[in-house]
Amino acid sequence: MTDSITIRAPDDWHVHLRDGAMLRAVLPFTAASFARAIVMPNLVPPVVTTVDAAAYRERILSALPEGSTFTPLMTAYLRDDTDPDDIAAGFGSGVLTAVKLYPAHATTNAAAGVTDFARVHAVLARMEKLGMPLLIHGEDVAPEVDIFDREARFVERRLAPLLRDFPGLRIVLEHLSTRVAVDFVRAHAPQLAGTITPHHLVETRNSMLGHGLRPHLYCMPVVKTEADRVALVEAATSGEACFFLGTDSAPHALGRKLAPVCAAGVFNAPVAIETYAGIFDQAGRLDRLEAFASLNGPRHYGLPVNAGTVTLIRADWEAPRDAAVDGPEVRVAAYRGGETIPWRIADAGAPE
Ligand code: NCD
Ligand code: ZN
Repeated sequence: MTDSITIRAPDDWHVHLRDGAMLRAVLPFTAASFARAIVMPNLVPPVVTTVDAAAYRERILSALPEGSTFTPLMTAYLRDDTDPDDIAAGFGSGVLTAVKLYPAHATTNAAAGVTDFARVHAVLARMEKLGMPLLIHGEDVAPEVDIFDREARFVERRLAPLLRDFPGLRIVLEHLSTRVAVDFVRAHAPQLAGTITPHHLVETRNSMLGHGLRPHLYCMPVVKTEADRVALVEAATSGEACFFLGTDSAPHALGRKLAPVCAAGVFNAPVAIETYAGIFDQAGRLDRLEAFASLNGPRHYGLPVNAGTVTLIRADWEAPRDAAVDGPEVRVAAYRGGETIPWRIADAGAPE
């Protein structure tokens, strides 16, 4: 039995770090496990321009714990009125790494998302030319589409034509939640890749709804069936270059989760890399964790892999139940809080 594994330092290719007190509360968890992260732009108001992204990056850097070398990779929130020149300038200067497309109203803070792909044609064409990745929240939220079919519908009706229209555009379909999406990504690699979250590898709609309603497991896209979960585990642990790590860690204050209308999002940063390690271990595929966590993402983004390494060891520890946001009154509940977790990070940077 393998009790220790050393991999290149991993990256998180999809995280919500928020802003202000919430940023200060959650950033240390991501920075402790990941060398870089793709930071989602769905603040209120959203991060739309290069100027917005540069300012947000500064706020993240100033919230970092002393001595941290974590690098935030910034994204711009695509809107119908996004200026292609601004996106090109942001990419050229290194402020922007990618652009995020939310279909309008698809998820938390997506009201200003794209209403019609035809309206963002010029931006996508420019990104295609530049080699700038497009990140997609792939759900069709039309009222007649059942919530469990939103992803499959988007993939078939919206994503397939987009891939055809922009054959040189590199795309990430984020937080895959269905077998349909897994198969679709595989069939359209390497143009298309997909990220997979820890909670979509563990939870199903049974665990979310089958034994009482568990608001802390509610996220977009919602967790699906056991067959979908198994397909996601197979994809993540396959080593295939088109699948890589993106936690979609998405903290909300407890009051917004335990509310009549529960906010979507799972705050998994405190247990993310450890949960992935457990899943790969159970699958007997720990040897493929490095490809998923540290190699496939940089390759799709055209970025170097990290120089440092991280060692994970088999050792029980208790996951924190929550994190305090600016004092003890406001808290954000953590995924798997209070559970005994069988893997943990031993050491970052300098393995013996
Ligand atoms: C995210 C959030 O809270 O910002 N929520 C979620 O359920 N994943 C938004 C998103 O990525 O869809
Ligand atoms: Zn997200």
